[in-house]
Order: sequence, then C-alpha cells, then structure tokens
Amino acid sequence: MDYIGHNAPSRIEAEIYDLVVEGNLPADIQGSWYQTVPDPQFPPIQGWDTFLSGDGMVRAFHFRNGHVDFAQRYVQTERWKLERAARRALFGAYRNPYTDDPSVKGKKRGVANTTPIWHGGRLLACKEDSRPWEVDPKTLETIGEFSWDGRLRSETVTAPPRFDPESGELHFFGYEAGGLATRDIAYCVADRNGELIREDWVQAPYCALMHDFVVTKEHVIFPGFPIVADLERLKRGGAHWAWDATKESFFGIMPRGGKVEQMRWFKARPCSVFHFINSFTEGNKVHVDACVTDVAPFAFMREAGGLHMQPQDIRGDLVRWTFDMSKPGDRPEETVLAPSGDFPRIADKDFMVDYNVAYYMQLDPTKGPPILSGPVGAGFNTITRLDVKSGKTKSLFAGPACTVQEHVHIPSSKPGHEGYLGYIVDRHDENQAEFHLTEAENLEKGPLVRIKVPMRLRSGVHGNWVPA
Ligand SMILES: [Fe+2]
Repeated sequence: MDYIGHNAPSRIEAEIYDLVVEGNLPADIQGSWYQTVPDPQFPPIQGWDTFLSGDGMVRAFHFRNGHVDFAQRYVQTERWKLERAARRALFGAYRNPYTDDPSVKGKKRGVANTTPIWHGGRLLACKEDSRPWEVDPKTLETIGEFSWDGRLRSETVTAPPRFDPESGELHFFGYEAGGLATRDIAYCVADRNGELIREDWVQAPYCALMHDFVVTKEHVIFPGFPIVADLERLKRGGAHWAWDATKESFFGIMPRGGKVEQMRWFKARPCSVFHFINSFTEGNKVHVDACVTDVAPFAFMREAGGLHMQPQDIRGDLVRWTFDMSKPGDRPEETVLAPSGDFPRIADKDFMVDYNVAYYMQLDPTKGPPILSGPVGAGFNTITRLDVKSGKTKSLFAGPACTVQEHVHIPSSKPGHEGYLGYIVDRHDENQAEFHLTEAENLEKGPLVRIKVPMRLRSGVHGNWVPA
C-alpha cells in the first residue's frame, strides 16, 4: 500500500509557471503555501518500509496577483546525497540505524519530510527523528541542516511546532532528544527573530511517540501515547514503534516561562493522538483538544505490538481533556467534541486562546469505498468545519474518485471574513491534482477556485501558509 497506486513514488522535481486557474482568485490571496512530501528515491533495502520514511520533498504554490506558480524539489539531505551517489538505498528501516548499510554508519538519517516551518525568515523542513533542513523559500534549493547556529543540543526537533502569533515566538520540542529510545525531551523556544532563547531537558515517563504538543498563553503541555520504542528491539532489527496498551497515556504540564522541574504529570487511558487542535488556559483549567483514536492508526505500529485489526474497526473522536491545576490528582476530565477525523487546523489568530472554529478532515464511508492515498492507507474525502462550542458541523465532500490532502487556513484581509481553506484534491479519475480554495465559513458551498496541476501529487504530510 505504501508503493502502489496513488502512493507509488513520484520522484518528479518540477516547476510549472502559471498554472491554469478556474474561478476568480480573491485579491487577498498573496503568499506561498508550502507542503512537505515523503517520496522515496529508491526501493527500501529490507524490501518494505513505511510511507513515513520517504525522502522529503518541499512543494510550493506561489500566489501573486492572481497568478499561481508551482514547484517541488527534493530536500538534499546528507542521506539523499549518499543514496543518490550510490544509486540505491543505503539507510534501512524507519528510525532503526541498526538496519543500515555499514557504509553509512554515523551519517545523518533525517529525511525532512513532515512539516515546513516558516520562522525568523527561514523555511525549515522538519521531521521529528532529526534536525530540520533549511530550504530557500523561492528556489527550494537546500541550504543545509539547521541547528540554530549550532546552539541546539537536542538531536531531534518535532514537526509540527507551536507558533505564538502575539509574541512571534516558536515553541518546539524534541523527544528522544539525547538519542535513540531515550526518555529525553528538549523544550525549546526561538524568539521572533529566530534566535534560540531557551532549551531545557526533562525526562518523559517512558519513551513514547510524541508527534505533537500544545502551548497556551500560560502553560506548555507535553503529551505521550503508548506507542513505545525499545532499544533492544531496535538492535535486533525490529520496529522502532510498537503499540503497548498496558501503558497509559501521559501529559506533562508546566507553567509557560516556568522551570521544567515544575512539570506536573497526568495520566489518561491508552489511546493515540497525532494531532492536537488547540489548547488554552481558563483560570485554573487547561483545556487540550485533540483528534483521538482508540489505538495507533498506523498498521505497522499496531502489528509490532501484536494488535491485529482492520482499519475500519478503529474508533475515535475529537476530544477535550481538561486539567484542573488547582486540584490534586492525576486524571483529566474527558469530553467528546465531535465525530472522528484528523488533520485539524485553526486560524493562526486562535492559537493558544479560547476559540470557536476548527476545520478537520474525515473519511465519510457513505460517499463511496475508501481510496488508497497517504500513510495510513485510505485518504480523507471530506473537510468539516466544527463550531467547537455548539458541536455543530458542516462538511464538504471532495467528490467521487477524489481524496483530499491536509488543508491550511489562509486569513483574509477583509474585516469580519473567516478566511479561506486551501488544499490539494487528488483526482484519481484523471491521475492529476487540483488545488482548491474554499471560503472557510461557507465551505459546504464548494470551492471558489480550482487550480489545475497536470500531474499526480503524492500525498504530503503537513503544510503551512506564508503570507507574501
Ligand atoms: Fe502530523
């Protein structure tokens, strides 16, 4: 499933000047949308590897005065260059250096394929098992591995980080910061100029998969879920991650600006979260909103933990965990916000504060059979707007034979306007792609603009909008 159909490697580096635009592009859409995409250069040496291991490409749509230009290029990581020279894969299984060809022992394994971050005037392609790679935002040429002028101590930087639109700070963390399967978490802050102003280390309860974290105006929250790493398993050539429902999920909560020694640890039922919607502090309470599934959504993580089940049997919800910091105890309150889905996005202005609108993606099985696209197998076919306080939703179905990649929210300069959602629609009937732009508040009315891309665009992971 990771190498066939829409998931077949593309490996196409391309520039297309002036894409065909159907519809009228709103005048306030001025900027670039960047997305990172796993796209393996060569077949894996061990015969199979997860979609998540593919070499990173950065893809861009540049919007200028009603015109749209497209480009995608590989991030030329050390790994990419070594394998390019050898004309074959040299690095082995996902996050397991013990499976590598001996010729690349000690070389950088990062593939920069998960999240493009724009901060401090730099475009960084991140993947959570390694440090970011800096890419030129105009040409997409690789500048080099980025470590905040060599000052970063953590070996890893997660994708995605959390941006504070008010202070301009970028809050991020690394897990397995001190090496493979360690419990080290590095909490880092870069100021609005991109200078690293903070890096503090703390130990997680166990080495858990920590893809995302959340920050409020008053707190920083480090969540972990029982998808666990084990050094001995890695040395035997086994999987990096295995689902382990004997462990509970954890949340470490510290005051923002406080010391990591002030971290208070909470526990919750075993479950899996890859993406948090938002988080905010209300008096003594910290609210953490997340897209939750009962078990790991990736089959290779479940299988490594001995859990064999069909993907359609996985259950989930959008959930709010509320932590009362004024009371003793280590259990949050849990409430259901909305039906299941993933890839939640909100407007930048709502980051870290009480908010009411979220957009996320769903797979609506009543609209047709699932279509292969992306790392978990079936691609999403629906975008949903959630009114968080009332729980009311409205949705847009992408169309038959279509899947939708992660959308991004683009703010409007018009007062009172909720902004736009931009996203790639995979046209499986034509083996091509389109970039659609929809009014966020009225997404159910369908796209205002369809931008044609005359080729298949392999499923990206995350994307971000950078205003002109
Ligand atoms: Fe993610």
